[in-house]
Amino acid sequence: MAELNELSEKIAKIKQEVQNELEKLENSKSVYEYKKVILDGKTGKIGSLMKEMGKIPNEQKADYGKKVNELKTWAQSYFEELDAKFKQEEMRRRYESEKIDVTMPAKKHEHGNLHPVTQVRNQLTDIFASMGFEIYEGTEIETDYYNFTALNTPQDHPARDMQDTFYLSPEYLLRTQTSAGQIHVMEAKKPPIKVVSPGKVFRSDDDATHSPMFTQMEGLVVDKGITLCDLKGMLDEFVKKIFGKETKTRLRPSYFPFTEPSVEVDVSCFQCGGCGCKLCKGTGWIEVLGAGVVNNKVLEGCGVDTNEYSGFAFGIGLERIAMLKYGINNIKLLFESDLRVLKQIDD
Ligand code: PHE
Repeated sequence: MAELNELSEKIAKIKQEVQNELEKLENSKSVYEYKKVILDGKTGKIGSLMKEMGKIPNEQKADYGKKVNELKTWAQSYFEELDAKFKQEEMRRRYESEKIDVTMPAKKHEHGNLHPVTQVRNQLTDIFASMGFEIYEGTEIETDYYNFTALNTPQDHPARDMQDTFYLSPEYLLRTQTSAGQIHVMEAKKPPIKVVSPGKVFRSDDDATHSPMFTQMEGLVVDKGITLCDLKGMLDEFVKKIFGKETKTRLRPSYFPFTEPSVEVDVSCFQCGGCGCKLCKGTGWIEVLGAGVVNNKVLEGCGVDTNEYSGFAFGIGLERIAMLKYGINNIKLLFESDLRVLKQIDD
């Protein structure tokens, strides 16, 4: 009897203790941990009470077992209730913290875009490729021979003054024109030839429309029976594609030592349609490139039989085209990498 009384007291104490402890718990993790301490079958304060059964006289065993079970059931449901309460609270807090507003405007992704001159270069390359031109890329350092002499511009030729040259040595220079590539192409390949050659060129020249470094695209066609008409026909197509379907071309006589005849090519103003505006300075026409029939002296110098073959060539300034197309009035804007300018130009 003493045993049962003693144990009943112990049970009551445990119940009180557990009650006190559970009131202090604050989250589901501590509920889980304290539950192990209390209800574990071997070591738990309540869980292990059944082990005391041996000490109880037989006739009181049932009574004791009932008391222990009652305590266990009470504790279990207390734990469950607390656990459910904390879990619900924790879930609510988690939802709160992970809440997203799907109606919020998304963060804008910054898109990069190609430099305007690169855009023009790509557009021109595409147009010429669609006309059957191959691409040849020359080198920026050239010899005096390829840049001038082979292009019918020997040492004392006055046309050398047209292009103020950066010499690296008496023999080497920074090419002043992609025309130097014409010679390399003709030396490497027999006609028919149909190439365009884009690249940087250099001249000691610096104002609102000139920069010491700029970009050209050279074109060269050599085949049987090529005339100025072929050049005109090809250019008519080209300008329509780059400036719009209504654009017309006009050839004006000009001079380059490596073409004869030489022409300056104007396009009808694509802004005013030819009536006269600020862009075309009231003339209705805008100069876009230099061109001509390849001078026989140049062809012969490259071993091309001029009885059989003739050709035309043209050179386009890409910065000039970019300035015209995108309404840029100072060439420096194309070299300053000011994002406020560059971001506006995305064709
Ligand atoms: N190379 C010339 C220049 O830079 C342009 C040109 C190229 C003219 C081909 C005629 C033929 O001014």
